[in-house]
Amino acid sequence: MTFLNSVPARVRVVEVGPRDGLQNESSSVTTTTKISFINALSSAGFDTIEATSFVSPRAVPQLADASDVMQSIERRPGVRFPVLVPNEHGYERAREAGCESIALFTAASETFSQKNVRASIDETFARFAPVVSRARQDGVWIRGYVSTATDCPYSGTVDPEATVRVAERLFNLGCHEVALADTIGEATPVRLAALLDVARDRLPFDQLALHLHDTGGLATANVMIGLDYGITIFDAAAGGLGGCPFAPGAPGNLATGRLLGLLHGLGIETGIDEHAVCTAVAALVCACPDLGTEHGHAR
Ligand code: COA
Ligand code: ZN
Repeated sequence: MTFLNSVPARVRVVEVGPRDGLQNESSSVTTTTKISFINALSSAGFDTIEATSFVSPRAVPQLADASDVMQSIERRPGVRFPVLVPNEHGYERAREAGCESIALFTAASETFSQKNVRASIDETFARFAPVVSRARQDGVWIRGYVSTATDCPYSGTVDPEATVRVAERLFNLGCHEVALADTIGEATPVRLAALLDVARDRLPFDQLALHLHDTGGLATANVMIGLDYGITIFDAAAGGLGGCPFAPGAPGNLATGRLLGLLHGLGIETGIDEHAVCTAVAALVCACPDLGTEHGHAR
């Protein structure tokens, strides 16, 4: 039986729950709980866990404890802990806290860029230039994000050409990996395929990730499209936590357990222990019963 053109033997799952998940929570999660959550995820087998953000604490108060978190988590050999960095100030804070991997983020939609980081897309690249030159000197690993890769909460459907152009700029800048993000979870399989058609000859697919939210319930269908196009890196958040405070209607990331169920069900290896992910989520929900997870609020 064949129903996909290609199924890779192995896929990398990038865990983004501690950052994309917890940045959007109104209930306060203590620093100790965040550290325990990240440590529990590290033992589940991920090689990349996005841990927190060195953004303005006024913009994202939920992650104002980024330095404490990064100074206290266990660093496992072979596990990267990228942190979001919007500008040189963020880079300096991240390095002081011992970070060796960063994630730069910009958008395909001008309106979203303004709302998210108070800058045009060109201005975000001007902010990245000094960060990237320092990161390369320091041997820091760099991920790039193109937010609103298919849909913008303010301006609607996004032209694939705009998304691919921004992704090309991130690769040209020196990003080791770039994630195309469906920030509000409204991509459909047809529109994602149209984006990947435009991207196919212009972006290195072995360094391209898909970052999907599950608002419309189509995230796993979109993963199938990604697999069919040869994408082998997918982001997910344990427990389906998350969303973006600057993107109304972005409630939940694709849940890691759901993604692992799909991938393992297709016979694809990930190296990640599904049970250990459940245990990490259970401990988090136990410590913070008001968190919004894929199963709704715990009480
Ligand atoms: N870390 C901590 N503080 C920072 C900072 C950083 N990386 N960058 C700027 N600041 C502080 C400045 O020191 C300044 O503080 P002050 O008012 O006490 O002097 C204040 O923030 C304003 O600085 P400015 O450079 O004018 O930034 P801005 O107000 O235009 O905001 C961003 C730009 C990018 C810093 C801000 O919009 C931001 O952090 N956004 C985060 C968006 C996000 O995380 N979205 C979710 C992920 S997609
Ligand atoms: Zn996201």
